[in-house]
Amino acid sequence: MKNLLTLLVMVLFTVATLSSCGDDAKTTAKTTTTPPVKQEVKKPEPAPEATASADGEAVYNKACHVCHKAGVAGAAATEGETLDKKRWETMAAKGMPTLKEHAIAGFTGDFGAMPAKGTCMDCTDEQIEAAIKFMFNKVGVAVK
Ligand code: HEC
Repeated sequence: MKNLLTLLVMVLFTVATLSSCGDDAKTTAKTTTTPPVKQEVKKPEPAPEATASADGEAVYNKACHVCHKAGVAGAAATEGETLDKKRWETMAAKGMPTLKEHAIAGFTGDFGAMPAKGTCMDCTDEQIEAAIKFMFNKVGVAVK
């Protein structure tokens, strides 16, 4: 019975690790193959890993920069000649809750179509928010 529980915890942990967006997935996956003796780890919290790796820059580099770096496909650029700070200020005025909602669900505006989660389907909501914050930081516009 205990073994079954351990297995369950391991499976949950592996799933949580695999679904996290970070590059540290490989390193953490290794630790799951080590001793199955840890009985006290019994609360199956689904995604502590994912929250811990809500690294906005990493998510941005993985999923968002494709469009948001130079402003491809109507996306607001975060650098280069096409960077339009006014546009970021207009976006910031919507407020983080709205921006987050749009980035997660997808959003079609006057410029083009923002795909749901910027196509990072295994990103957590926290990771998407972190990436949004990273972009606004990068262009130097405050967002609430
Ligand atoms: C395939 C291209 C593409 C990718 C990849 C992409 N975006 Fe976008 N994004 C867009 C476009 C286009 C818009 C502008 C929509 C408009 O205003 O017409 C946009 C707009 C946004 C907005 C503003 C929404 C609003 O309400 O004005 C946010 C926030 C955003 N993207 C975040 C992200 C994040 C975070 C990622 C990465 C996880 C990402 N985007 C990846 C194309 C992309």
